Amino acid sequence: MTDPWWKSAVAYQIYPRSFCDTGVGAEGVGDLGGIRRHLEHLAWLGVDAVWISPFFPSPGFDYGYDVADYCDVDPMFGDLDTFDALVADAHALGIKVVIDWVPNHTSIDHPWFVASRSSPEDPHRDWYVWRDPAADGGPPNNWIESLTMGPAWTFDDASGQYYLHCFLPEQPDLNWANPAVVSAMCDTLRFWLDRGVDGFRMDVVHLIGKDPSLADDPAEVAGLPHVVLNDRSETHAHLRTIRALLDSYDGDRVSIGEVYLLDTELVAEHYGNDDELHMCFNFAPLHAPWDAAAWHEQIRVAASAFDPRGAWPTWVLSNHDNPRHRSRYGGSEARARAAAVLLLTLRGTPFLYMGEELGLLDAEVDPTQRRDPAGRDGCRGPIPWDGTPTHGWAGDSPWLPWPPDAARRNVANLRDDPTSILHLYRRLIAIRRRTAALVGGASELVDSPDGTVAFRRFDGDSSVTVLVNFLERNVDVSSVADVVDGTVLLSTIRPPGEPCGAVLEPDEAVIVATGQPGGR
Ligand code: NOJ
Repeated sequence: MTDPWWKSAVAYQIYPRSFCDTGVGAEGVGDLGGIRRHLEHLAWLGVDAVWISPFFPSPGFDYGYDVADYCDVDPMFGDLDTFDALVADAHALGIKVVIDWVPNHTSIDHPWFVASRSSPEDPHRDWYVWRDPAADGGPPNNWIESLTMGPAWTFDDASGQYYLHCFLPEQPDLNWANPAVVSAMCDTLRFWLDRGVDGFRMDVVHLIGKDPSLADDPAEVAGLPHVVLNDRSETHAHLRTIRALLDSYDGDRVSIGEVYLLDTELVAEHYGNDDELHMCFNFAPLHAPWDAAAWHEQIRVAASAFDPRGAWPTWVLSNHDNPRHRSRYGGSEARARAAAVLLLTLRGTPFLYMGEELGLLDAEVDPTQRRDPAGRDGCRGPIPWDGTPTHGWAGDSPWLPWPPDAARRNVANLRDDPTSILHLYRRLIAIRRRTAALVGGASELVDSPDGTVAFRRFDGDSSVTVLVNFLERNVDVSSVADVVDGTVLLSTIRPPGEPCGAVLEPDEAVIVATGQPGGR
C-alpha cells in the first residue's frame, strides 16, 4: 500500500482575507480569485497542498470562524463557481485543496441558531447548549471563553436561559450530543467532499464532545479558557464517525484536527487507533521559544507521543492566530531562515503560513485600527505581491496595514533574488522532495553542543543530519559524528556542495548528507 499523499506533503495555509484582492466583493479584502491568480506561484514554490481558512457566509465577528452557512461562499470572497474553478486549477497543478471546517460552533446568524433562539419549544432548541441560570442567577458553570476571556455563557432575555459559547457570544456552541447535529454536520462535510476537496482542517475539533453534566472546570485551572481543558471521550466517538465518513471517499481525503490541548500526549490520543484524525496540529512547539534546549525537548516529546501509536506528526511555526515566528523570535531573518530548515526537515508534515516564505514580520496595527477582538491582526497583514504602491492588490488600501518593508519584501522582488529567503524555502522544499530520508524516513536526535539541535533522518542507505545553531555566535560542532566531513546539501548561509567542517556560523542551519547523498 502506498502512503497517503498528505504524509509527504508540504502544506501552505492561506488566510483568504489577506492573500490577494482581485476586486471581487469587499474592497481591500482578499478573495478566491486572488488565490486562483497565485496558484502558479505556489506550484513554483513547491507546495503540495493549500489549506484555506474560512470563506463561508459569515457576519465576520471572528473573521469567518463564525459560519452562517456551511455550504456556500461569502460574496465577499466570490461564489461556488469560483471555488470549483479554484479546485480544478489547483488539481491541474498537482496541488491538493484542504478547507476549514468549523464544527464546534456556528454564527448567531446561522438559521439553526436563529431557530434555536426563537423559542425553547423550537425543534432546533437542542441543537445548541441551553441551560437555566445557576442558583444565583449567574452563568450555569465557570467556563471561560477563549477570545475575550469572559464567561462562556450569554443570557437570553426572551427565554431566561443561557447559551454556551467557548468563543465569542456570536459563536454559539453546537450540541453534538444531539444526533441531528451530528447528521447535519456530516452532511456539510459531504457537500464539500462531493465538490472534490481533499480534506479539512477541523477547527477546535477536540471541543465537540462535552461533559454532559457541564461540570465546573477545576478551581486550579479556572482562569484558563475552557478550550484548552476539554479532553473528552465523547469527542473520540465523534471523531471515529467523521473518520469513517472521510474514509468512505476515494483519494485519501484528510482530516487535520486543530486539537488545542497544549499537551502533546493528549493531542496524540486524537489520532485514536488510526481511526480518528489523520493528523493533528501540535501547538506546544509553536509556543516554545527559539531555544535549543526547548526545541530538543519538543522534538523528543513529539517522537515519544506520536511514534508508538504510528501517528504522523505535524509541525507549524506560524498561523493566523499567533504572531509570526520571525516576530516572535526577535525579528532576525537569519533565525527565520534557520527555523525554516527545522520546519521542513522534522519528521512529519510541515504547515507553512502564507508569507513566512517571504520572511514577513507582523504588520504594525495601531490600537485604533484594531479589527480582531483577540488582537491577532499583526499576523494577518496582507501579502505584498509586488513593489507597486498597491502591491498587486485591487483598490487602494487593504483591510489591514502592509507588513513592514513591503516595498522590498514582496513576492516579485524576492523571486528575482536567488539569495532571498523565498528561494531558500523553495530549495528546502525541493531537497525535501528528492530526499527519501527527509520525506518518510525515521528520525533520531543526535547529541550536539549546547545551543544547537541535531537530528538524523534516515531511510535505508539514505541519511542526512540536520544541525541548527540557535545561538548568535559560532559553535564548534566537531563532536557530531559524520557531520564534519559530510557534504552540505543546504546551508542558510553558505553555498552547498562543500564539506560541513567543524564550525556552524551564528544562526546557521545545515542539512548534511551523512549517508548516500540525496537519498533514493
Ligand atoms: C481556532 C481558529 O484558528 C481561530 O482563528 C478561531 O478564532 C477559533 N478557533 C474559533 O473558531
